Amino acid sequence: MTEMLQLTGHKDQLFNETVRQQLDNWISKYPPGQPQSAVIPCLHILQNVHEGWLSEGLMRALADYLGIPAISVFEVATFYTMFELKPVGQHKISLCTNISCQLCGSQDIARRIQKKLGIGFGQTTADGKFTLKEVECLGACVGAPMLLLDHDYHEHLTEEKIDALLDGVK
Ligand code: FES
Repeated sequence: MTEMLQLTGHKDQLFNETVRQQLDNWISKYPPGQPQSAVIPCLHILQNVHEGWLSEGLMRALADYLGIPAISVFEVATFYTMFELKPVGQHKISLCTNISCQLCGSQDIARRIQKKLGIGFGQTTADGKFTLKEVECLGACVGAPMLLLDHDYHEHLTEEKIDALLDGVK
């Protein structure tokens, strides 16, 4: 992990080559001189290689890499619920409780998940396997009620589907 995420030094020493290639790929998609445009995809890359969360050091290193003030990274990372600023479980469940999902039974789904895992929103199971989050609309209202498990959407949820889904997670 440490060698993946070398966080101090000259720009060429920040992160390892594999991570730098991923960051540079996204940075190159935006107009020259506008590195701030790449903050969101770069944060996703760093979160994915850092056990699902972003430390302050990681965000500062990204700011140095992009050549922008640290606050420009912090303000993005703290605004979006998809970014984690403290350690999370091995798997992250993001349950939408916004209006469409609520009308279609997300409260029952929430109760089922909470009972099954023994945790509430914003908590992680004692074995570190799951973190449960309550999130706003994920843009999949047509599949309400729905949740995001790690990187996959699961829609038209029922309590039976929740049992099968969670039991199937390794
Ligand atoms: S309200 Fe749940 S996905 Fe839109």
